[in-house]
Amino acid sequence: MIKFDEKKKIFHLKGKSYSYVMCVGSAGYLQHLYYGKAIGEKDGSYLKECVGNSQDAVCGDNYRDVRTNDMWCEYSSYGRCDFHEPCVLIERTDGAVMSLFRYLSHTISKGTPVVKGMPHIRSGDSTLCIALRDDFSDAEIRLYYIVSENSDVLVRYCEIVNTGKNTVKLTKAFSFVLDLPDADYDLMRFEGNQTYERRPEVSNIAHGITRLQSLRGASSHQINPFAILLKKNTDENIGECFGIQLIYSGSWAITMEENNCDTLRVQGGINDTAFSWILSGGECFVTPQVALCYSSQGLGNLSREYADFIRERIMPSSRAFSQRPIVVNNWEATYFDFTYEKLFAIIDGASGLGVDTFVLDDGWFGERNWDDVSLGDWFINKSKLPDGLKPIIERCKRHGMKFGIWFEPEMISEESELYRAHPDWALGKADNNPSRQRNQLVLDFANPNVVDYVFNAVSDVLSNNDISYVKWDMNRSLSEFFSPYLPADRQGEVAHRYVLGVYALAARLTATFPEVFFEGCASGGGRFDAGMLYYFPQIWTSDNTDGYERTRIQWGTSFGYPVSAMSCHVSGCPNHQTERTTPLTTRGAIASLGATGYELDLSKLSESEREEIKKQICDYRKIESLVLYGDLYRLCNPYNENYFAEMLVSKNKKRAYLVGEQFRATPNGHFKEKYLKLYGLDDNKIYKIEPLNVKASGSVLKSFGVPLPHLSDYGSFIWYIDEIEE
Ligand code: DGJ
Repeated sequence: MIKFDEKKKIFHLKGKSYSYVMCVGSAGYLQHLYYGKAIGEKDGSYLKECVGNSQDAVCGDNYRDVRTNDMWCEYSSYGRCDFHEPCVLIERTDGAVMSLFRYLSHTISKGTPVVKGMPHIRSGDSTLCIALRDDFSDAEIRLYYIVSENSDVLVRYCEIVNTGKNTVKLTKAFSFVLDLPDADYDLMRFEGNQTYERRPEVSNIAHGITRLQSLRGASSHQINPFAILLKKNTDENIGECFGIQLIYSGSWAITMEENNCDTLRVQGGINDTAFSWILSGGECFVTPQVALCYSSQGLGNLSREYADFIRERIMPSSRAFSQRPIVVNNWEATYFDFTYEKLFAIIDGASGLGVDTFVLDDGWFGERNWDDVSLGDWFINKSKLPDGLKPIIERCKRHGMKFGIWFEPEMISEESELYRAHPDWALGKADNNPSRQRNQLVLDFANPNVVDYVFNAVSDVLSNNDISYVKWDMNRSLSEFFSPYLPADRQGEVAHRYVLGVYALAARLTATFPEVFFEGCASGGGRFDAGMLYYFPQIWTSDNTDGYERTRIQWGTSFGYPVSAMSCHVSGCPNHQTERTTPLTTRGAIASLGATGYELDLSKLSESEREEIKKQICDYRKIESLVLYGDLYRLCNPYNENYFAEMLVSKNKKRAYLVGEQFRATPNGHFKEKYLKLYGLDDNKIYKIEPLNVKASGSVLKSFGVPLPHLSDYGSFIWYIDEIEE
């Protein structure tokens, strides 16, 4: 619901259980009044009297004593006594940088706007657009608010329009500002690195600026573009929290500023470091969207809201809830060292297990026998595969399986035909010794000719072969943000234009090959964000597939993303990342809490391992609808406990699927019975838990719990929970 009180100039936005209120003050400033638990439709008047009017009064319009710094705003100004970090910087032709925005007009419309070239919410009930006019330049800012009545996610973004004739330069263009009346929050961020992505870390907020960011040209392994502000007593099931999730895959920033009045200003969007954008007369700059979420029922509820939001409103609708391919990928089985025989052995080994797609990873193209050559040469590696992909595809078909393939579309090796032909297609300056990572350079996706070339090269492979799945990898950070294609005064645009190039290619390829399933990847989970999920329904969560470490990685990822977005594979032991050995049952159980698959040499399995995998896949297909549609309840935190446990519950609460793991066996003498409380069931329903043969009500399963089993090191358990008639 979006309501505007014409007389009092109050906007009231209401989602499933939140309200968001703002007003236009006497001097025309758009003032923030409230964001939190839903309040009465008419309560806006009280808020305006309480807060709005007094702030309006001190801001004044006479410029004798301007205190815009003390006003809660919707989009901050700069150079006019608001001393917070600015959210937009507009440099006029005369060099002046200052802005002060006042309300101009607004529209309320049904549905959601389509944002061309950028990931955006696909469906929402209504959209409020408020136009603000800058006192000092010809800039107009349009603030968008997209409300969905059965969701607690509020989507925001803005457009900055140059309505004048003179060119202006943006040197900062954040997507949103959120003023909160106090700063008594802890901040949960999701930090990490390759192989240990998205570890929740909680710290308190102090005065000054706390800034989370990536400068890597990608959302990054190091900090996810998602953060949660939580009140001190908030846990999984109770308490208030706010989520801030950018729908963006490039360099980003989210800042939190506790000011002298102990209030908190949160803002974020495209990272402004070295950013600039030239805006000629009549041009418009569109910022990425941000998905804000308010929960008064703890972190679990916040995560479930985000999971629904991403599945229902961000992911491609044709894929979001469709059965996922269960793949076997050859990477850890062979790395670059494969022949037809080795691949055939894996495919033959997969036969009869229920695996439906074989994926050929890195190494099939150019002269790619190691990671220092051939990126960009998307044609067959004849020395390895003299007869091309056809024999592999035929072998898959013989076993009733499909074929998938790996690309790294955004990269170029200096040792490649592509680089020899187009050295100017790499980012950076060739004569400045650009930095390599994994021996490779980054293609200049700010150059549309490069994007066209890659589109054609990838399309050729997809059109000429029967391919049903693509793994789109990206194995380095961007460093030299210099595009040989763009003029000097546009180099500040490179980082964002690169991302727009990635989105353009993803949009074109997925539209041209709708039958192909695309999975994202960036050295594991280096670009796990809502922006990429707009194009690809799942992302390779991490290169770390260890049966213990994965509990933590998937736990952290689940705060902001649905389990169906997480590609989770069972790999061989000792694990290639940690050298740890965990039971195959455990690896399978943990991988079943996502889009499951395999990443090991299936030709080397013992008979009992084959039986185990067959069972895993058969069992997975039975619970897959819970992975796709269910609600996740995080029950036992692997960072704090000797156990991990998560449960997926059907929306109607008739069915649930619980996976647990015990990390270290505990000796008898030290053992104290532990009970796992099952949050998420219906208090009034009676459930049967198999294989425990427990029958109990949802209320006792939550209040008292179920004794945890005693297991050996890294042992796991799976419980199937179904409502029964009494
Ligand atoms: C990094 C990915 O995360 C791996 O799964 C694999 O595809 C390699 N790249 C191949 O180079």
